[in-house]
Amino acid sequence: MKFSRQDFPHDFQFGVATSSYQIEGHAFGGAGPTHWDTFAATPGNVVRCEDGARGCDHYHRYEEDLDLVANAGFDSYRFSTSWARVLPEGRGTVNQDGLDFYDRLTDAMLERGIKPCATLYHWELPAPLADLGGWRNRDIANWFADFTEIIMGRIGDRMHSVAPINEPWCVSWLSHFLGEHAPGLRDIRATARSMHHVLLSHGRAIEVMRGLGMSNLGGVFNMEWADPADDSDAARRAADTYDACYNRFFLSGVFKKSYPELALEGLEPHLPQGWQDDFDTISTPIDWCGVNYYTRKLVAPDAGPWPRYQEVPGPLPKTQMGWEVYPEGLYKFLTRTAQEYSGDLPIFVTENGMANNDQLTKGEVTDQARIDYINQHLSQARRAMDEGVPLKGYMLWSLLDNYEWALGYEKRFGMVHVDFDSMVRTPKASYLSMKQALTSTP
Ligand code: NOJ
Repeated sequence: MKFSRQDFPHDFQFGVATSSYQIEGHAFGGAGPTHWDTFAATPGNVVRCEDGARGCDHYHRYEEDLDLVANAGFDSYRFSTSWARVLPEGRGTVNQDGLDFYDRLTDAMLERGIKPCATLYHWELPAPLADLGGWRNRDIANWFADFTEIIMGRIGDRMHSVAPINEPWCVSWLSHFLGEHAPGLRDIRATARSMHHVLLSHGRAIEVMRGLGMSNLGGVFNMEWADPADDSDAARRAADTYDACYNRFFLSGVFKKSYPELALEGLEPHLPQGWQDDFDTISTPIDWCGVNYYTRKLVAPDAGPWPRYQEVPGPLPKTQMGWEVYPEGLYKFLTRTAQEYSGDLPIFVTENGMANNDQLTKGEVTDQARIDYINQHLSQARRAMDEGVPLKGYMLWSLLDNYEWALGYEKRFGMVHVDFDSMVRTPKASYLSMKQALTSTP
């Protein structure tokens, strides 16, 4: 790495992130079925119909994985708690083995001096709740509040920080408008409702955790910079609409008690009745703001119904996902988020990283592209800090190669290579380089 710990303030937190369904292996320990199991079992949705049944077998290998986190010198570990592992039916009977697992995991972090940073929901909705309409059903805010109380009632006393929901845009738009993630809907009414209910559930969970006496609670928002494909007014408007639906909708709800006009244009007729009355809950104060950032999109106008935009291929170098590498977008989002939304609140980059076509050769993976990607993004993060953005930490996605949702196990995001047959972990060059940057003394 080109940077070292000394280039950042002494209390800047370097962390690494994962999520439950992507690594744990869902087929163990009494977890109930989720809508990702259903989605994956339906041909056409997921590459090779792969699901999270085995994941990286982290459920059995978490100690080895946390050793990797600690040995690289990371300060914090962002993980998520599986709702269906704790409540196999989504509500009602608790699976004690599930609670015990998160209890052991938490203690194993603390024993290694790692700060536990939890996300309550990272996408594997219990299937019985999906049957009831999932994120389309307003009751989800109560179901989620109950889950929050149960899981945080057990491990909340030892959490360093907690965010309720990972990436509201993915939970709602990607899954209900684009149909690319479970439940695979393409329905504007379902989209509008899920966008609103995700935020309502976020607010309810924050209230519940405050009630439990917890602090350091935040939100994790994914952001994709939208540039117009050309300098026409129509392309500018298309990019602004994309930005409104993708980025601004969720931040506006939480920080401004409103939704952007350009998003309401298409969504308002489909929002649940009385949506304006929910903003007090949605905007329940939080303590920090999380930014997940990977790429940007070039956006052009599109004929046809709202939202009348389309993504077009861009000229920049691309990752294994086909995503353009655009480090400046991180700087732009960090500055814009602080200036327009979160103000003085601490900001964390809660995810940043790249998928790479990594090959294991003679026990080594030389993922120089990932090292470059991290360096470039950290330097844009540093630039934002130099201009006064209260950025307090950076978390890399991800520790391990893992289940990349609809793209199965082929896209490798880890700093540590996983052989999905033997489950053997092999640190890549990026891991070793990160370890040097974080642990070497001047
Ligand atoms: C964001 C998501 O939180 C995570 O689950 C996913 O694997 C990464 N992006 C990469 O696509």
